[in-house]
Amino acid sequence: MNLIMLGPPGAGKGTQAAMLAVQLGIPHVASGDLFREALKAETELGLTAKSYMDRGELVPDEVTIAMIRERLLKSDCDKGIILDGFPRTIEQTKALTELLAEQGKTIDAALFIDASEDELVRRLSSRWTCRNCQAIYNLISNPPREKGKCDVCGGELYQRADDVPETVRNRIRVYWDQTSPLIDYYRDEGLLITIESEGGIDHVQAKILEALQSA
Ligand code: AP5
Ligand code: MG
Ligand code: ZN
Repeated sequence: MNLIMLGPPGAGKGTQAAMLAVQLGIPHVASGDLFREALKAETELGLTAKSYMDRGELVPDEVTIAMIRERLLKSDCDKGIILDGFPRTIEQTKALTELLAEQGKTIDAALFIDASEDELVRRLSSRWTCRNCQAIYNLISNPPREKGKCDVCGGELYQRADDVPETVRNRIRVYWDQTSPLIDYYRDEGLLITIESEGGIDHVQAKILEALQSA
């Protein structure tokens, strides 16, 4: 199964994709995580991405598409993938269709997770992420068992540099300008599944699994 997670910053794409990856036994491929890993490793890709990420702007399509292309060619993607944060522009959408077609694959569904802007800002201002494995926590809705420490790997939790209010506002603006047209694109393709993300993380996961079963 090849799935796309669509939705604004803070909607819960990463949270739900990580849970789905366990449920479905296929890899979670998150463009933002790949950029953050590159940044941690201080590669050229990481340094290029940083200047855009810090401002809440999109990394250029050319760079992003090349990175995803490399990732999709790895053999663990053979059985399926959950793409989180990619595609984010019409250009990336076209590139993805071509990349998959080269391997005889197609997209099965685009899960559009939505929440109100107030809720997005609230979630992002209380998000903590593991520096080591990128597991996602929230001080209000999903706190770690031990303060500042990852439940999964024991790594240190930190607040993403792009979660400061000014950058969050710009990320939401960029989402409306450049990414929201993808909602209509996948609706027209007959692939869109819309999930409202109120009601807690487990409830949202149950709604997604139910929607996928009847898709
Ligand atoms: P990226 O890392 O993809 O960030 P984003 O899209 O802004 O999305 P977030 O990760 O902030 O939100 P999410 O939907 O994953 O929410 P989460 O599950 O964490 O991208 C970062 C940057 O990288 C971009 O700005 C850009 O510069 C660059 N980039 C990445 N991809 C790119 C691309 N394709 N092209 C160009 N540039 C690209 O949840 C948020 C919080 O809410 C958490 O604390 C969580 O615990 C909590 N939560 C989740 N669900 C619920 C719920 N149902 N109820 C209550 N709390 C919840
Ligand atoms: Mg995310
Ligand atoms: Zn961790």
